[in-house]
Amino acid sequence: MSLLEDLKWRYATKKMNGERIPAEKLNYILEAARLAPSSSGLQPYKVIVISDRALLAKIREVAFNQSQVTDCSHLLVFAAWDGYNEERITRVFNYTMDQRGLPYQTMADYKQNLLAMYEPLGQEWHAHHASKQSYIAFAMAIAAAAEQRVDATPIEGFNAEQLDELLQLKGSGYRSTVLLPLGYRQESEDWLVNMKKVRTPLEDFASELTLADLTGAADKAPTE
Ligand SMILES: Cc1cc2nc3c(=O)[nH]c(=O)nc-3n(C[C@H](O)[C@H](O)[C@H](O)COP(=O)(O)O)c2cc1C
Repeated sequence: MSLLEDLKWRYATKKMNGERIPAEKLNYILEAARLAPSSSGLQPYKVIVISDRALLAKIREVAFNQSQVTDCSHLLVFAAWDGYNEERITRVFNYTMDQRGLPYQTMADYKQNLLAMYEPLGQEWHAHHASKQSYIAFAMAIAAAAEQRVDATPIEGFNAEQLDELLQLKGSGYRSTVLLPLGYRQESEDWLVNMKKVRTPLEDFASELTLADLTGAADKAPTE
């Protein structure tokens, strides 16, 4: 199997059958998310794993009643830092230096530059930036799930304020960003399962650009 075959197999499953996924597959998907790259390696996010049926029922109420939230095996809640500050960044950098056996001082200048860059941008910008980082891990989880032949539905359709309240994230330094129910498709009740996958044609999606294109030099090139 290739990555492209996996990505063609997956789709935003609308109806799941409630079957459990094995622990190894769940761990594989979480590991792929954990290995995602992030800006400055800060990994300003975490994943909350929920399979408790009573809690899932409550989450569905703040997720526009989407059935995948309760018919999944496990729900991954991606949550990102609500801001950057010296304490949080120092904790991550010191951990990195510990893991690499290097003195904390190694990243001191880099850290000061990062703080100086982030500080004037404000907490909402920070939270948005951290949220964007969490989507990279989210995408890795989606691809890993497809490789494992586990269905996954990306879900942004939820009330983040209410979910944060429900999961008691307020005051924790994290805000929920996006959801990923994992499970198995209920083909007979899923209107999307056999629909053609539609994407922007490659020629419109990706195009090559040269400096000559920008300066108009290409147009001025002498022709025979
Ligand atoms: C960030 C994001 C949020 C989404 N939110 C929802 C959602 O709340 N509910 C849902 O059923 N699908 C949701 N989708 C699924 C998209 O509609 C779907 O991925 C898109 O139409 C492409 O189809 P495919 O994933 O089946 O290939 C979301 C997808 C992404 C990437």
